[in-house]
Amino acid sequence: MKKVAVYKVDKWNPDVEVIKLAAKKIREGCLVAFPTETVYGLGANALDEEAVRKIFLAKGRPQDNPLIVHVASLEAAQKIAYCSQRALNLMKAFWPGPLTLVMKSKEIVPKITSGGLDTVAIRMPSHPVALALIEKSGIPIAAPSANTSGRPSPTNAEAVYDDLGDKIDVILDSGPTDVGVESTVIDVTGERVVLLRPGGLPVEALESFGERVILPEGLNRNERTDEKRRSPGTRYRHYAPSCKVLLWKEGEDWPELEVKKIGYLGIRKPPSSVGDDVILFESLEHYARGLFMALRYLEKRGVEVIVADYPKKEGLGLAIRDRLYRASLG
Ligand code: TXA
Ligand code: MG
Repeated sequence: MKKVAVYKVDKWNPDVEVIKLAAKKIREGCLVAFPTETVYGLGANALDEEAVRKIFLAKGRPQDNPLIVHVASLEAAQKIAYCSQRALNLMKAFWPGPLTLVMKSKEIVPKITSGGLDTVAIRMPSHPVALALIEKSGIPIAAPSANTSGRPSPTNAEAVYDDLGDKIDVILDSGPTDVGVESTVIDVTGERVVLLRPGGLPVEALESFGERVILPEGLNRNERTDEKRRSPGTRYRHYAPSCKVLLWKEGEDWPELEVKKIGYLGIRKPPSSVGDDVILFESLEHYARGLFMALRYLEKRGVEVIVADYPKKEGLGLAIRDRLYRASLG
């Protein structure tokens, strides 16, 4: 069994020696988990087919689900994708930050990275450790969330260790992440900007920048999704703990439950019958930040069912709903 090396790294003042070592590992084709402002990523050299293959193996990820490539500059993005003026404007406005753009890929990107598609998803994270690692390694880093495929995404190093500790080479530990849900993914290859995955950058922010964003059907009417318009990775049960997840929607009665041990998370207060396993958040921002950690925590507490407050579709509520809905499937 492989033994992962875990290094504590100060977020605002990353140790140069540790970053150098991790960057060397990336260049050698190894797997390095690192913090971003959204969730922890599982990084490998995006241009090295063999290294990227290891990501899919470690996560147990379906091969048709493409990865996000992380860069530290607009120039680096332009080396791997054809960036339109509109894409460049969006990058200038929202990078570094939780926005991923799907663009036409250049030849240099291996097909395994883009899941066999002719497009590639790119983002520039704002976390100082992520930026330092990308800069030091001098190559674009492919990184999905550093969890076992289908599980809640990791928002701290312990969660990465729990899922992947025996399968990867290095974990850079900078404590819990800020945003807590993954980046917003948009497709900018066509006439209109299409939302593929709601995330840490609210759609309202894109709209106030002057972009009309097309939402997939499932996000603006009912929960049935128009599969073709969504990212490959948003099709299956996902973000799910081992126990059942039930959604408590606005205006609905509290669900009748036969089980003894119930867990709850959300902003609204649950009925007092729920017991002690209750995690309350003050705002949508806090809910997003604590969502995945709460799912993992309640799972460890051994609850039989998790009831989750299903927020409104405003701001980060859209991303929280998306993650909870997928966690509740199946
Ligand atoms: O915040 C994030 O985005 C995190 C951190 C580590 O950066 N990464 C992340 O990666 O969430 P992952 O692999 O868990 O999710 C990537 C999403 C998937 O839904 C995938 O299908 C979609 O992006 N995606 C990637 N490339 C795509 C492409 N060429 N076309 C459409 N969707 C794409
Ligand atoms: Mg993921």
